[in-house]
Amino acid sequence: MSNTDKVVLTGIKPTGMPHLGNFIGALKPLIEQSKTHKTFMFIADLHALNTVHDAKQIKQHTYEIAALMIALGLDINNTILFRQSDVNEIYQLNTMLMNITPKGLMNRAHSYKAAMDKNIAAGADVDSGINMGLYTYPVLMTADILLYNADIVPVGADQKQHVEFARDIAGYFNHTYGNTFKLPEPVIGQDTGLIPGLDGRKMSKSYDNTIALFAPEKELKKKVMRIITDSKLPEEPKNPDESTIFHLYKHFATESETKQFAEMFRQGGMGYGTAKTMLFEKMNAVLAEPRAEYERLMANTAELDVILENGANLARQVATKTMQRVKKAMLG
Ligand code: ADP
Ligand code: TRP
Repeated sequence: MSNTDKVVLTGIKPTGMPHLGNFIGALKPLIEQSKTHKTFMFIADLHALNTVHDAKQIKQHTYEIAALMIALGLDINNTILFRQSDVNEIYQLNTMLMNITPKGLMNRAHSYKAAMDKNIAAGADVDSGINMGLYTYPVLMTADILLYNADIVPVGADQKQHVEFARDIAGYFNHTYGNTFKLPEPVIGQDTGLIPGLDGRKMSKSYDNTIALFAPEKELKKKVMRIITDSKLPEEPKNPDESTIFHLYKHFATESETKQFAEMFRQGGMGYGTAKTMLFEKMNAVLAEPRAEYERLMANTAELDVILENGANLARQVATKTMQRVKKAMLG
């Protein structure tokens, strides 16, 4: 099997507009990968259910992720883009896998342990606010991966353990019922490095230092102008590697533009205000077109419904076959 025959699968939880860190660190590499691999990409609305209990919000965020991926150039002819909850087989496989998943494995899940630790630290009951959706989250994720015979699962480092669980559970299944599932492999993207946020720390929702990927132009400009810098005067030479402005710029500019920008930092003579304006203009030039397409799609959700429905139909074809195998193996 050549590398391009391998099935790539990933899910994105619909919990709001991604930021530039998510874009550069996760979404852009995924879109690149989808150009050369058969890719399943779904919006993991069932996974959002354990934290988001507002249907309107889930629906809206689902559209946002779909529109965003298409606007960024996801090739929907090469990628099966769908809504997780649209394929009924996912609920079936989830139920089946519950019966071979050791409870102890779930007890070891980082996200569940983190939720318990938080309760303990707050002096609350250890299970406070923890629903079964959170506890069994890795089983549903395993069902996602196995239902579509994924070989490669690109995820952020925080999700690696979940993919390893999927591999373990597939192994238990094969051991008990005979060879039924491929063993998936997590692939952690890493070459982009960490994108800094407005305050210079890692850009993250938790630090409130993010720039939304498709922030309207005015907001984008405001955010860029708010990037924290040191107090060097315009004429002073500056080290580009220590500058958030430079780190963001290089992800939007060509190699030669980046070199030139670094040189302007080193030489001195360019103030941070000028550097920020250059950064904003560069970002805006790259993002303006996809942002307009995103806005167009969000104003035409019927178009997104058609795309997601087509995706679900294609995904279902694979899912039905998997479920036939599973039912035969488990129930005869
Ligand atoms: P946050 O830290 O804002 O909660 P998530 O954990 O939801 O972000 O990130 C989803 C994925 O986006 C991560 O697994 C990672 O691949 C990528 N990512 C997030 N923040 C950054 C960043 N600052 N730099 C590079 N990649 C990032
Ligand atoms: N749990 C993943 C996250 O929080 C999303 C997800 C759901 C997923 N199912 C998946 C990722 C299957 C990869 C494969 O980001």
